[in-house]
Amino acid sequence: MFLPQLLAKSAKGEKLVALTCYDASFARLMTRCGIDILLVGDSLGMTIQGHATTLPVTLEQMVYHTEAVTRGAGGGAFILADLPFGTYQASAEQAFAASARLLAAGANMVKLEGGGVLAPTVRFLVERGVPVCGHLGLLPQSVNRTGYAPQGRDVTSATRLLQDAEALMQAGAQLMVLESIPSVLAEEVTQRLSIPTIGIGAGPYCNGQVLVLQDLLGLTPKPPRFARDFLTGALSLEEALVNYARAVREGTFPGPEHCV
Ligand code: KIV
Repeated sequence: MFLPQLLAKSAKGEKLVALTCYDASFARLMTRCGIDILLVGDSLGMTIQGHATTLPVTLEQMVYHTEAVTRGAGGGAFILADLPFGTYQASAEQAFAASARLLAAGANMVKLEGGGVLAPTVRFLVERGVPVCGHLGLLPQSVNRTGYAPQGRDVTSATRLLQDAEALMQAGAQLMVLESIPSVLAEEVTQRLSIPTIGIGAGPYCNGQVLVLQDLLGLTPKPPRFARDFLTGALSLEEALVNYARAVREGTFPGPEHCV
């Protein structure tokens, strides 16, 4: 699926359903179950590789997993791939070289973590044909600075986040992930932006929702408070994924309790 189709769904008022995906088998299943966005997240450093953070993930590994997911999806879902830590912060040229590898591997868009300081990089990428998704709030690649603490809980950090969101959108970002922020702030960002917001731990008011697959399947030893295990009670993986997609589209997940 290409970006115009995805944006048209959102423009019609449909909630966008996203899940992390790291391999071809799940990509095939998720596509069959109507998941709109397969996020080849650098969370694979934790879920697949067993690291404590996402920081060790390399561009080569992201290319490998993006290729696998792309083959499994067979063109039926939108492929969003994370730029891993250290492959885009140094310069816009560095970001373009890394993004080109991910697009060649099959990604339809790249995601990068960070605020207004990255706006010139976003503009550089977009002007050269790379669709960009921003990622604000809790930034796992900044764990050494912030830990895994929720963000945007005081006026200063909420104001900063709003400014960052607008700066990234003005620079050309066309999707925005909001992670672990209060639902009132996610609602405010969603109202101010003219691009879809995708929440995770951000409450019910975003234009879409993403979860880490292992959280949805109840495989995470200490899952985040905002996650829900959709496998318990379902008869198959397929039923769990279909129930997740339905819950997001019908607005029954996430609820107000599924945020920080
Ligand atoms: O890598 C990832 O799984 C992510 C989600 C937490 C949004 O970026």
